[in-house]
Amino acid sequence: MSSTVITHIGELFTSDPEGPMTVEDAAIVIEGGKVAWAGSSTDAPAADEQVDVGGRAVIPGFVDSHSHLVFAGDRSAEFAARMTGTPYAAGGIRTTVAATRAATDEQLTSHVARLVDEMRRQGTTTVEIKSGYGLTVRDEARSLAVARQFTEETTFLGAHVVPEGDPAAYVDLVTGPMLEAAKEHARWIDVFCERGAFDEDQARAVLAAGDAAGLRGRLHANQLTYGPGVRLAAELGLVAVDHCTYLADEDVAALRDSGTIATLLPGVEFSTKQPYPDARRLIDAGVRVALASDCNPGSCFTSSLPLCIALAVREMGMTPTEAVHAATYVGAQALDRDDVGALTVGRRADLVVLDAPSHVHLAYRPGVPLVAATWLGGRPTT
Ligand code: NIG
Ligand code: FE
Repeated sequence: MSSTVITHIGELFTSDPEGPMTVEDAAIVIEGGKVAWAGSSTDAPAADEQVDVGGRAVIPGFVDSHSHLVFAGDRSAEFAARMTGTPYAAGGIRTTVAATRAATDEQLTSHVARLVDEMRRQGTTTVEIKSGYGLTVRDEARSLAVARQFTEETTFLGAHVVPEGDPAAYVDLVTGPMLEAAKEHARWIDVFCERGAFDEDQARAVLAAGDAAGLRGRLHANQLTYGPGVRLAAELGLVAVDHCTYLADEDVAALRDSGTIATLLPGVEFSTKQPYPDARRLIDAGVRVALASDCNPGSCFTSSLPLCIALAVREMGMTPTEAVHAATYVGAQALDRDDVGALTVGRRADLVVLDAPSHVHLAYRPGVPLVAATWLGGRPTT
């Protein structure tokens, strides 16, 4: 098996909470697509091939644990209206549902391909993709089949909003025939538990049906107002609950006690003008915090984890080190993955070479394209 050594790494950000988080003047050896060795340059073993990165920083590829890439249409007018005071409303989801239903499979696939490529150029190497803009049996199943072409981390979000008709009948559809058609293409099931979408009882019913069908639960919760979603996620022991903008003290305590990860999505608050979630409060209380993009056409149309990191540092009280760790290692944990998210021996050699001397520059130089190269499984892709 041939090996590659990456040398002259000015700063290696391992994102390993148990090892040194950073190593200066470092090297990495890759074999069989995985990290075989990482450490100080002076101790680096020889390899068949050598790549000199000239003092640049190397970090793990970002793990984006929350996105909605399968959609058609454009809601830029809604964004523009928000910037002059119109509030965000979940009802806008129905606009995208109509456009998505009208799109062909080929159109949806090429659109997702474009967004995944955009993500990769910004350093994302693992992405979770949700359905949720089809909301019929056929359109949810085909959305997930499209997503599956790009990732194993697919999530059935039939319970995004009630598209039309009676809510109780729609929950029956989601937990019955829609789940039946979706389950072969999905690993996860998600519910938008929020006023105007699904209440606590409906969320419980959807997650229970998903569990019975072999799908693991996640939740969109406490995005627009205080509500029961975060406590429900903690009670059910879900691996992650996403948004977490409006939290009561009991919500924070419940997350701490359950170990459920709070996935914060600052691109949403940027694009909706809502208050940012308080990452500092969560971390200080002992809650694990992940960062993800939530890339979607309504509440947040960014695919950029570097932007999310910069916002988390500037607006949410995270240190640059916490923010990059949250977008890599904790993102992987939020998908229950231990094979990505850190540059430690045995993990996949998914990594990003930064045109910068340290990971701090991701927040220090917002808006600057610092990703010099993205490597997937030990090979450069960009
Ligand atoms: O995660 N919160 C619900 N769903 C998406 C937004 C969907 C939309 O507005 O199209 C989100 O923010
Ligand atoms: Fe979302």
